[in-house]
Amino acid sequence: MENDALQTAGQLSNEEAIAGTAAYVKDALLGAEGGHDWWHIERVWKTAQHIQAQEGGNALVVNLAALLHDIADAKFYDGDETVGQKKASDWLSKLSVEKGVKEAVLHIIANISYRHRYSSTGGYTLELKIVQDADRLDAMGAIGIARAFSYGGFKQRPFYDPQIPPEQYHSTVAYAQSAAPTINHFYEKLLLLKEGMHTEYGRQLAQGRHAYMEAYLQQFFAEWEGRL
Ligand code: ADP
Ligand code: NI
Repeated sequence: MENDALQTAGQLSNEEAIAGTAAYVKDALLGAEGGHDWWHIERVWKTAQHIQAQEGGNALVVNLAALLHDIADAKFYDGDETVGQKKASDWLSKLSVEKGVKEAVLHIIANISYRHRYSSTGGYTLELKIVQDADRLDAMGAIGIARAFSYGGFKQRPFYDPQIPPEQYHSTVAYAQSAAPTINHFYEKLLLLKEGMHTEYGRQLAQGRHAYMEAYLQQFFAEWEGRL
């Protein structure tokens, strides 16, 4: 990572601020559910770094936002959307990063979620695009499939029921309350992610991961019907 691509982080060097944040997040997410654990964060962090290296943008903001984006997902706090913001804000104050860096990171955390796409207030900064692409890529491909079934198990959902067809949701609440089988989630979200990628590099990775999920579903239904 090029040092001069980063803005300063107060008394700490940028590397120290990023390493300190990684340690903080790793500790905070110990014992988290499989789809939202430290390894999810580490994958998103690495992917975001790769995209940033190709597409530019402020590397300090991208690194900190990738690390902090799921620090307190509202799903695990009775739907309270403010917990993550508060935790991240407190942490960034402790780090004493510049005000602009802190605001940019909090903007990303507030707007990154797929669930917020119905109500997004816009303001798509390059850094938000990068971290959102990285987060969405982790919901696709082989890892995305593993995460979907992990989440479905956590929610005690069946993995497939031929009598419950996939639905299109038109509100954040309806989407969050869905109790449909996990296979439906591919049609309701995972196969739609490719079209929403913002960066060129993200789009390239998304194509491969999308094709992998389509091949997986073909095999799944063939096996379901005993055809393979
Ligand atoms: P976001 O934070 O972008 O709104 P989520 O936190 O809802 O995304 O999703 C996190 C992971 O859990 C993703 O891999 C996603 O595909 C998976 N997931 C979310 N909802 C479901 C569901 N209804 N069935 C299966 N997997 C799900
Ligand atoms: Ni995430």
